[in-house]
Formats: sequence, structure tokens, C-alpha cells
Amino acid sequence: MEKTDLKKLLSEMTIAEKVGQLVQLTPDFFLAGGEITGPMQEWKMSKEQLFQIGSVLGTHTSEQVMKIQEMYLEKSRLKIPLVFMADVIHGYESIYPIPLALAATFSPEIVEEVARLSSKEATEAGVHVTFSPMGDHVMDARWGRVLESNGEDPTLSSALTRGYVRGYQGNDLSIEKNRMAACVKHFVGYGAAQGGRDYNTVDISHVNLYQNYLPAFQAAIDEGVELVMTSFNTMDGIPVTGNKQMIQKVLRGDLGFEGVVISDWAAVVELIAHRVAADKKEAAELAFSAGVDMDMMSDSYQTHLAEIVLEKEQQEILDEAVFRILTLKNTLGLFEDPYRGLKEQTPEQLKQTKKELKQSILSISEKTPVLLKNEDNVLPLKEGQKVALIGPKARSQDILGAWSWIGEQEKAISLAKGLKEKDLDLSILAMEDGQNVTENEIEQAIQLAKENEIVLLAVGETSEESGEAASLVNIRLSRNQEQLIHAVSKVNANVVVVLFNGRPLDLSNIVVDTRAILEVWFPGSEGGRSIANLLMGEVNPEGKLPMSFPRAVGQLPLSYMSLSTGRPMHDGNNDQKYISRYMDEANDPLFSFGHGLSYCQFECLDNGISQHSFTEDQTVEVQVLVKNKSQIAGGTTVQLYIEDVVAQVARPVKELKKWEKIYLNAKEERMITFELSSDDLKYIHHDLSMSAEKGLFNLSIGLSSQERSIHHELLYVV
Ligand code: GLC
Repeated sequence: MEKTDLKKLLSEMTIAEKVGQLVQLTPDFFLAGGEITGPMQEWKMSKEQLFQIGSVLGTHTSEQVMKIQEMYLEKSRLKIPLVFMADVIHGYESIYPIPLALAATFSPEIVEEVARLSSKEATEAGVHVTFSPMGDHVMDARWGRVLESNGEDPTLSSALTRGYVRGYQGNDLSIEKNRMAACVKHFVGYGAAQGGRDYNTVDISHVNLYQNYLPAFQAAIDEGVELVMTSFNTMDGIPVTGNKQMIQKVLRGDLGFEGVVISDWAAVVELIAHRVAADKKEAAELAFSAGVDMDMMSDSYQTHLAEIVLEKEQQEILDEAVFRILTLKNTLGLFEDPYRGLKEQTPEQLKQTKKELKQSILSISEKTPVLLKNEDNVLPLKEGQKVALIGPKARSQDILGAWSWIGEQEKAISLAKGLKEKDLDLSILAMEDGQNVTENEIEQAIQLAKENEIVLLAVGETSEESGEAASLVNIRLSRNQEQLIHAVSKVNANVVVVLFNGRPLDLSNIVVDTRAILEVWFPGSEGGRSIANLLMGEVNPEGKLPMSFPRAVGQLPLSYMSLSTGRPMHDGNNDQKYISRYMDEANDPLFSFGHGLSYCQFECLDNGISQHSFTEDQTVEVQVLVKNKSQIAGGTTVQLYIEDVVAQVARPVKELKKWEKIYLNAKEERMITFELSSDDLKYIHHDLSMSAEKGLFNLSIGLSSQERSIHHELLYVV
């Protein structure tokens, strides 16, 4: 529809119809079923009001979408189609590894493929918009939602966020019916919830906000994201969903977003619980004036907005909000085709899509695991070894993760199933996932461990133990899993932990008992098969940690990008008292950001830097020769960090600026060239301006944020 026609449509709408467009409900207001991902409210709504709403979220099937859209359009006076939205976070029915695992690939291209193929499956079922990607900056593994994040580095998160938006949206949503509009969330600061407790207070400086929390949202907006979702949390004491400065000045002004702003689930009515609104009318007024276009799952707008608009003479603001929603529907081509994407594919095409997804999921889930430890190359498994597979995750199909939504768990490939497809002398002792490992089970495990050469201990979390509303004060392995590992390690020296989890865990108590640890996260539909391929050495681990694993929960929040402080601890003073340190634990993580081993031995050799000083109009080239010193092929990610030695605000002791994935055959070597410009030196100053300034920078390059084998000094001259 042309813009002039949209304007004409807007002019024909009554105020009740306009308000209705700003309301989003679950399918069960129309028919039974659908996904509930937040607290349900009880409210009255007339049939007329119901058939004026703008959007439905959380449909499960194409039949639901078809039926609701038909029912709705029959009764809609102006035949404005509903837009259907859902949480397609890492797949729809076919599930990829969780986003934190996908971040371990350090590959925007991989997440773009995930988003593209997820869209093919979701649009077939009538989904038009996905509430993804999550751009939240995270540093606290107590917060269960780190599972959905891209990890602790804003530069990596920004690159991955771009990849998701590209993959979901493609080039033209009105033509490409197998693409979805993306909704980047949760704007903003949600990951800084105090104590890692979900929905808790957030209070961060604006320098920190602009430096670390906004970049991924800016990246999504630069990539053309269609929607932004406001978060539950406060910012400067005001919930973002009612915070005019955050939405109007920061999001629309500084970041230049012009699309639809949707609240999170019931976040408008929850302004009352935040005690910034006395009732639903004040909540509606606050959110609407702040700039929230669509009220997800509350009746604040439905009940009070028409009255507010008339009282406050906000007809123009209302028209702008409604026009943004009509524009979104038009961008999706819904006026021409309200059944967009539904059953577009023939049964044969859909079969091909599912096949393509299965192959893609297997291939990508071979790249997300991170080999944290591998003493004496105990992995991969050796020909003819007697192998025991033990633990609550051995046969578990609960490997899709908390936001797998309608993922087909009954079809998920367990580790036991994956290993049984191999030519292995395998004994299995599976325990009930999610239950305490019993004394008797530990005794059985000890006996089986004595009878085998190597023991794979499949342990970790259930999907309920991470994700939304899954905050923990203790992030060690629970339900006697530590005791299981400890007991088995006493009778068998070759203990390999295969870890299924949605967040960094405190592994301090078990790391000494194990020869190897393979972090597999929630690996998705093909998980057991991809892990088996890795354990057998048919595939070489290549993942790198996108988030630090602490030594103790007391270290949280924790990030490799820490500031120096006035009393930094370093090798030369760690016996002194009056420095920034713990008395009962080291400062550094157990496993650092960017860490991840391979079955290969890689070496990075310095091949020089084009110059040791440069000006704004120049770029600097840094060359690294990467060698694979092994007899097998493999992949890794070479990382370049900078340290801004002196700046106007305290800067991190290191920041990831460049990285490159590289795959080398046996004994192969290849040159990598990193290009740096003054853009890579820019940072947020105290006045919130962003610029680079003259001075000395230390560059370091290596295979993790801690293992940095190459150093250069670089002077930026203005
Ligand atoms: C939830 C989540 C949000 C999700 C939304 C819709 O509460 O906070 O991430 O997209 O509701 O399900």
C-alpha cells in the first residue's frame, strides 16, 4: 500500500480503532492455546474492542494464525490485518544451540544463517515478527537470561546482533515472505539487574550505558531493525517503559530509531508495581508519553488511552504511533496478503526446509561447544577404548534450552543416542535429569568407572534452571553432580565432563577432578550427534568463550574488560594487602573470555606492524602468521585486543577490537592481517561524546583474552 493510502486509512479510523492498534494480546483471547511467557492479567474486554486490537503474540501453529486472522478480518471494519509476533530466539520447531552458544562461534555469518533458516520455518507457521535478537550487555551469570545474550563483549555482541537482523529481515520483507521483522530487546540495561536477580533494579552511569549497553542496539538500528522492545528495569530511577528520556532522547534521538517501540510483557501495567504510576490510567499515560507504541499483554492502553488522548490533546502522538504500526504491517505486505508466509511452501519444499535446517543445526552445533580443558589430549576418544557414559544428561532430551518454545524436544538427539551411532565400546549409566543423583547411583557409577578406560560425565542444568526468571545465588553444579564427579575421579583418572548449561557455572570444585571439560551449552535438536562427532574427533572443537567463567559466584559481575583501578593487582604485588583483590580468591576468572582449546596446537607468530604511529587518515596493518603444528585440521579464532594506556575516562585494561576465524589443515600456516583505524580507538567521553584522542595504545594478539602471544605499541597522533 502506498504511504498516501496508509495516511488515508489512518484518517478514516476512529479513536477506539486507533487505540486498538496499540494493543497486543495472546491467542487465547480468540481461542485456546498459545504461549504464555509472563504473568497473566484478568481484565474485561468487549468483543468490539477485541476485534480492534493490532497484534497477537505467541501463536503455536499456522492453523491458529489462519483462524484468528480470518475471524478478525470478518469483524474488522477497516480490514486492517493483525500482525503476529513470537519468540523465535534460536529456532522455531527445529532448534539451534542457545544464543550464548552461538556467540561462541564469534561468527556473524553463522547467526545470520540461524536467523534466515529459523525464519523459513516460523513464517511457514504464520509468524511475522520475532522478539529477537537480544542485545543485552551481560556480566553476571547469576542472571538466567545470559543464555539468550551474545555475551560480555559489546563489539562482539554488536557484530552478532547485525547478523541476526540481516538473517531475519533479508532485503525486502514485503517480497521475501520467508523472512521476519526483527525486534531487538530489551532496551535498555536489563542485563545489569542488581545481584543478577531478574527484573531487579538497574543503576548504571550514562558513560557505561553509552559505552557498553547501547552499542548492540545501535548496531541493530543501523542494520534496519523494525522494532525495539522496552525493558522491565529502571534507568535513572524510572522504568525504561515509562522513561521519556530513554525512549525519545536516547533511542529515537541519539540512536535514530524510527520504527515501532513495543513494551515487554505487561511492562506498562507494571509501572504501578514500580510505584511510578498510581493506577492503570497513570501507567498508560506515562508509557504513551514516553513513546511506547504498543502495549504487550496489559489492558492499560485498551482501557484508558482514548480518554488520555482526548484529555491531553495527544491526537497527533496517537496518529504517529498508529502510523508506525500500520507502516510495519505495510512493510510486511500484510494489507496485500494478511496470510503472509502461511503454508507458502509445498509439502516437498517444507520437507526440504526441515532437511536444510537439520543439516545446518548439526553443522553449527559442532562449532558452538568450547573445549575448556584437555589434559594430555585425553580427548578425542581413542580407537578401541572402553567408554562409560554416566550422568543425568546422558540420555536427556532436555537439551534445547529455556527459550526453545515449541522446539520438538521429543525429537532431540541425546548424547547417548549420538554416541550409540558410533563404533564404540560404550556402557551407559543414565540418571534422571533434574533429580538428585542418589548415593546408590554414585555407587553404580563408581563400579562402572572401574570397568572402563575413560568416563564421560554428562552433567549440567535443566532448561528450567536458566533463561527468564531463573536467577541463582549459587552457580555450582547442583543435585549432587559435584559429588558424582568427585567419586568417579577417585577410581578413574580419565574423567571427561560434558557440560550442558545456559550460563557460565562455577566449576572450581570439579576442575581438578577432570582431565577434560567440553562446554556444550544447550546444544539444540542435533546436540547428541554433534557432541558425539566432537568426542570422536571426527570434528575438532573451535568454540571460544563469549562470557567469562568465574572461580566463585562472589566475583560476579565479572568481565575481562575490567578497569585498572587505583590499586591494581599484578604479578609483582599480589602479596600486598592494600590492593584491589580478594583475600579468599584470585581476581581472574577460571576460564577467560575468548578461551577455547582445539585438538590441534595452534601458534601465532608476529609478522610485524605497518607502522608504530598513525594519524586519523591512516590505517595500521598488523600481520600474524598462524601455524597449525598438528597432524589434524582444525579451526580457531585469533583475537586482537587494545589497551588505551591513558584516556579522559578510565578505560578497560583490554578490549576486543578485531577477530578472525581461521581453519587450517595439518601443518598448514597462513597469514592474517588485521586493519586498525582511529575508529577502533574511539570511546565515550564524560560528556557522552564519542571520539578518539592522541596517545599510546598497547595491542595484543592471541587465542584468548588472557593468552596473548604478540604485543605491539602504537601511537595515535592527531
Ligand atoms: C517475556 C520476555 C521477552 C519476550 C516477551 C514475549 O517476558 O521478557 O523477552 O520476548 O515476554 O514473550
